[in-house]
Amino acid sequence: MTTMKMSLRLVFYAIKWSKWIVKKNYGAKFIMSFGIENRLSKIFKPESGKTVMLAVDHGYFQGPTTGLEDLRKTLAPLANLADCLFITRGMLRNCVEKNIQSSICLRVSGGPSILGELSNEDIVVSLEEAIRLNVSGIGMSIFVGAENEDRTISNLGRLINEAEKYGMPVLAITAVGREMARDSRYLGLACRIAAEIGSRIVKTYYCEDFYKVVESCPVPIVMAGGTKIPEKDALLMTENAIKEGASGVDMGRNIFQSENPAAMMKAIKAIVHKGADSKEAFDLYSRG
Ligand code: R5P
Repeated sequence: MTTMKMSLRLVFYAIKWSKWIVKKNYGAKFIMSFGIENRLSKIFKPESGKTVMLAVDHGYFQGPTTGLEDLRKTLAPLANLADCLFITRGMLRNCVEKNIQSSICLRVSGGPSILGELSNEDIVVSLEEAIRLNVSGIGMSIFVGAENEDRTISNLGRLINEAEKYGMPVLAITAVGREMARDSRYLGLACRIAAEIGSRIVKTYYCEDFYKVVESCPVPIVMAGGTKIPEKDALLMTENAIKEGASGVDMGRNIFQSENPAAMMKAIKAIVHKGADSKEAFDLYSRG
């Protein structure tokens, strides 16, 4: 057989083999599971399995809220201390250094301002944009019990359908409508729905009997901090959330509105990653 014939035969078998791999979906399976796991490992530190995300997305409906008026300035001492930044597309493009070490989780929902009906959100950033921005995850809010509950949950399903094709984890935020109680019954309902629809991460608020919310949600929960409270209290809330099974925090105001945001971030990290209690963490915070 001539060398030419042998080469043609090799090419023929290579094509046949690759078609078989694609048909069996082995290649797709391998590539997809690696993609999503690799992205998740950039959010959750493999050493602790937990994450300290810094939420700075508040402007998407609140505008220049206290502490985020000059986002570049706020982020300067903090961005690289976080495991992951939770941020919008516009702020990522304009206020974040291109060589940032932390991973990025992009908020992709929006619509109403603080003056309107908060649940009237839609998806406002495409998946292609998220991939182009090289993010490790995307997040959107669902408004269980609010006027547009059904649309926000369907949007979550549609987003996950697309995101999973590209190995992009979706984080669901269980936003609390103005008149909703932040208790374990309501938050448990919202978190479980987010998990049922297929979210890879769920963000919710701390509440009494938080462990009940965690127990009924089989995907990792990260705790949002909520309104600013004294540092000691925010650290105790973090300690309790971690003890009750949270996989970390996605905290904003209790870090960037703190007297010393960088020290607060280090104290939170000590609790989340090193298992420090809130007293040890407050000592760390006080040392600066
Ligand atoms: C709401 O504006 C966003 O989902 C925030 O990312 C979330 O509430 C976490 O921020 P904070 O700790 O300030 O509540």
